[in-house]
Amino acid sequence: MSNFTVWKTADPASAGKISAEIIAKTVIAKPDCLLGLATGSTPVPIYKELVAQHKKSNLDFSKVRTVNLDEYVGLSAEHPQSYHHFMMSNFFDHINIDLQNTRIPDGMAADLSAFCDQYEQQITNWGGIDLQLLGIGLNGHIGFNEPASVFTRRTHLTDLTESTRKANQRFFNSLDEVPRQAITMGIGTIMTARKILLVCTGIKKAEILERTFFGPIDPMVPASVLQFHQNVTVVADEAALKTILQKHPEFSA
Ligand code: PGA
Repeated sequence: MSNFTVWKTADPASAGKISAEIIAKTVIAKPDCLLGLATGSTPVPIYKELVAQHKKSNLDFSKVRTVNLDEYVGLSAEHPQSYHHFMMSNFFDHINIDLQNTRIPDGMAADLSAFCDQYEQQITNWGGIDLQLLGIGLNGHIGFNEPASVFTRRTHLTDLTESTRKANQRFFNSLDEVPRQAITMGIGTIMTARKILLVCTGIKKAEILERTFFGPIDPMVPASVLQFHQNVTVVADEAALKTILQKHPEFSA
């Protein structure tokens, strides 16, 4: 893990604060930066903190551009569990971002494959991702790149594993309602980001975090590919670092 910058925090709220600080620095240094954004429970405290910084210190998002990692197929932008809805209610509704400068995959696109190609093209046209925020799934997925026999390349349509559908069931009335497919940036897309910020909190993630950074680089643990990236910052709370600290006492964050 020596190639990574690791921040150890006491809890998810402080992980949110440190991660928001890293994102705010990027925005201040490059006001028209392209941020790769993520959804899920982990980033919620980060967006909360960025909104607070916008309100308190005028952190300016007026020129910032954003691309989200993924979206469920078959949920409209207005669906309360769509990632469009998540981004609006947790972040975009509360800052001065120009919505024309934001992109989230369209899970309702008539031609999903053509849409995926356009999404990649948009990222290229915007000059590539400056900072990609990532959470990590219990199965090691990043975005919706699920464990597989090969690393995926670019934005694509994917089937969700039962493990991911069960992990996300908490947001829906039943497992049946959880979509079975999603559009996600590929591992190749994520790896082209100039900087990666991986945020991981909670004891449930301790084992997969250890496998990600200390295990073999293996598409069955998609996040392990990050061992090949030159600029990764990990922000993790003590609980998430538990297995790493147990198995690798030499490691210090
Ligand atoms: P979580 O999801 O933040 O809700 O745990 C992370 C992910 O699945 O990427």
